[in-house]
Amino acid sequence: MNVEIFDRAAARVLPLAPHVDMALILGSGWSDAIVAHANFAVRARLPYSEIPGLGAAKVVGHAGELVIGEWNGATSLIPMTIAVWCGRRHYYEGEGWEAVLMPVELSRRMGGKRMLVTNASGGINPALRPGDFVVIKDHINTVGINPLIGPHNPAWGARFPDMSAVYTFYLRERLRAATEKTGLRAMEGVYAFTSGPVYETPAEVEGYKRAGADIVGMSTVPEAVFARACAIEVAGLSLVTNYASGIAPVPLSHEEVLAAAQTAKPRMAQILASFLDTFA
Ligand code: HPA
Repeated sequence: MNVEIFDRAAARVLPLAPHVDMALILGSGWSDAIVAHANFAVRARLPYSEIPGLGAAKVVGHAGELVIGEWNGATSLIPMTIAVWCGRRHYYEGEGWEAVLMPVELSRRMGGKRMLVTNASGGINPALRPGDFVVIKDHINTVGINPLIGPHNPAWGARFPDMSAVYTFYLRERLRAATEKTGLRAMEGVYAFTSGPVYETPAEVEGYKRAGADIVGMSTVPEAVFARACAIEVAGLSLVTNYASGIAPVPLSHEEVLAAAQTAKPRMAQILASFLDTFA
């Protein structure tokens, strides 16, 4: 990876936010779920197009803006500083790892010790319906690539980082509780990461199901692996926007994914708010 591009991006962003407590990386449809919240005080905003190596988000539904702000929770005495990455870059965009990992690397350099990653996914487990939330308990990388392939950078952890607990247990519990507080059930599940940009075939989905996956999507795992290697505590929350390929007899489309995310938006905001309140 090109460390120099991270240095240039840090020179642009760190003066705005020398320190954050936590980072949120918000995927398809999630972006404005927290920024507009009454308890969130915006301190700085920067479009991705002004961050070297990140560039404008190119996928419809991904906002492409970094918002730095303070969360003043219902019971908090000290506000928590958060970097909210509204939108992400994906492996399938073909521009390399730097853009995909930039939010994690900059959050790390800002001192962020926790990270919540959200996404949209297709439901594989037959118990899941569109509109359900899944707390990610583990993942399967079906792609066979890894962002840490390349020369070892000690700033990013060990040469062979442990992945036996990528998603931190107490954060999973808090996410589950925050979801249930909104009156929704929150299953824990295994996320299968595919490269995209194609949706899966029914045979692939059947294979992932037999391997133990509950949901499938095209993001999150590169960021989670990188963050975990760097000793950042990671939490992942997925909105099931559709039945995965072959689970229901309908073709998949990005419009369907965005429409489901739009419907779920008020609940996304509630969940994120009650999750952030647990850090008061
Ligand atoms: N597959 C892959 N990525 C997705 C899906 C899906 O079914 N739904 C939302 N993102």
